[in-house]
Amino acid sequence: MKRKTKWSLAGAVVLAGCAGAAAWMLEPAIAPIAPPAAASFAAQTVARGARVVAQGDCMVCHTASGGEPFAGGLPLKTPFGTIYTTNITPDAGTGIGNWSPAAFTRALRRGVARDGHLLYPAFPYIHYTRMSNQDIEDAYAYLMTRAPVQATPPANQLIFPLNFRPLLAGWNLLYLRPGPVPADGNRSEIWNRGRYLVDGAGHCASCHSALGPIGGERSPAFSGGNIDGWDAPALTALLQAPRPWTEQQLALYLRHGWSPEHGAAGGPMAPVAHSLSTTPPEDAAAIAHYIMSLQNPAAKPPALSAAAVIKPAANDPALLPGRTLFAGACAGCHTGAAPMMAAGSRPSLALSSAVAGPKPDNLIQTILNGLPWTHTGQSSYMPPFAGTLTDAQVASIAMYVRAEIGQRAPWQDDKQRPLDARGIEQRVTAIRKENQQ
Ligand code: HEC
Ligand code: HEC
Ligand code: HEC
Repeated sequence: MKRKTKWSLAGAVVLAGCAGAAAWMLEPAIAPIAPPAAASFAAQTVARGARVVAQGDCMVCHTASGGEPFAGGLPLKTPFGTIYTTNITPDAGTGIGNWSPAAFTRALRRGVARDGHLLYPAFPYIHYTRMSNQDIEDAYAYLMTRAPVQATPPANQLIFPLNFRPLLAGWNLLYLRPGPVPADGNRSEIWNRGRYLVDGAGHCASCHSALGPIGGERSPAFSGGNIDGWDAPALTALLQAPRPWTEQQLALYLRHGWSPEHGAAGGPMAPVAHSLSTTPPEDAAAIAHYIMSLQNPAAKPPALSAAAVIKPAANDPALLPGRTLFAGACAGCHTGAAPMMAAGSRPSLALSSAVAGPKPDNLIQTILNGLPWTHTGQSSYMPPFAGTLTDAQVASIAMYVRAEIGQRAPWQDDKQRPLDARGIEQRVTAIRKENQQ
């Protein structure tokens, strides 16, 4: 998986402006230690650490495609070049084997490596800083008891001045507020637990918030972001979905990557749900409880509200190519007569945010890539169509699904003009190109 952060040259200039701050924020090295013996950690601590590491999706980023778990080397793409994740197995030479608990804690709390160099915020330490000492210690125990792997990631390819790490001190001044936040005494335990997981290990806002010019999260948080060419929908408008989310449905979706009323978690959300499925159900329940507390029942984003439902003209010739293609490629699994639909276990496409949402991106991505992940107890495989359908065909299908199944007005471009077949096709071409990079 690759990631793109919206850093821009303007941002580089701001960073350069903050360079002065670097001078007084240089961090000392923390002395190396002999790698601790696996037996020195209590089994219970390690088991708790497994849960923390799953909550934090550490493995998703720190494992290259086809590589050893936690050995790093996954490329994260930014407009300024590529950052590779590091090896966080306990190998002394190439991993974090000689990192003390203090060095590990400083990395998570303040984005500083053991030798004192500043880490790029593609590593979401602005969220991990919220984790408790106990959780950080447990995660340390878990990682230190994995098999050491000797592996060095490729060198980062970042352009000047972004390749000059001390500039990150300026970024930290702007965006890093270190340390946990105290529990809110006016709220329930489950709410506080949910906020802790969402803002801390879960780092939900890093994908679900818009990013500013130098990759800082914009407020309000959770108002929707973009990651790897996927639209990460707003998490504050879940009551405005075609079928309003409930806390129970959300918890189910987070644990199973799927909800009968809303469909499947695709793209970068799939591994998040996959990680959460390995943690106890109370984690997903607490996250769902907190996220539902952020909803504003009065807010009505026009693209998703019931009022936005339209009835397309019968036999609209513009929808004809899409209807024919859908009948051939999709209907076998996605019409009322398809076996899974009849069994009531496959949601109508009309309920999917990929279909009803404000952008065509996730529908296009789903058609191109299919859905590889099998969620518990359901046969949820959808084949990829990238190799069999042209851009124009994908666009026709998307347009048809949106209008006739979703019964939504056309998507709009940045200037609020309706996207026609040609406009959607251009989006398909752009997304394909992005996927291949
Ligand atoms: C979104 C992707 C992402 C996730 C999720 C992630 N990391 Fe990282 N991590 C990175 C990147 C990228 C770097 C390297 C940054 C750099 O080189 O400046 C890094 C660096 C680190 C380092 C510093 C290692 C070194 O040798 O300098 C540690 C320690 C670390 N991560 C631990 C974790 C832990 C623990 C978790 C889970 C709680 C985690 N990471 C989750 C992307 C991620
Ligand atoms: C082999 C069966 C199969 C075929 C063929 C298929 N799909 Fe799917 N599709 C699935 C499954 C399974 C899911 C996961 C969600 C579920 O269980 O309903 C899914 C999910 C989706 C979603 C996401 C909905 C959600 O869950 O959020 C969209 C959009 C979609 N399919 C569109 C299409 C289109 C368009 C085509 C034709 C180009 C197509 N599918 C062909 C099986 C299929
Ligand atoms: C790595 C990026 C990433 C992270 C981290 C992430 N998400 Fe997502 N999320 C996405 C993307 C992309 C989608 C859209 C995928 C789809 O609909 O198939 C999504 C979809 C969702 C949806 C469905 C929304 C809808 O309208 O259909 C919910 C709910 C959600 N995420 C909640 C969360 C929560 C809670 C967290 C933190 C525990 C989280 N996400 C962390 C990227 C992310």
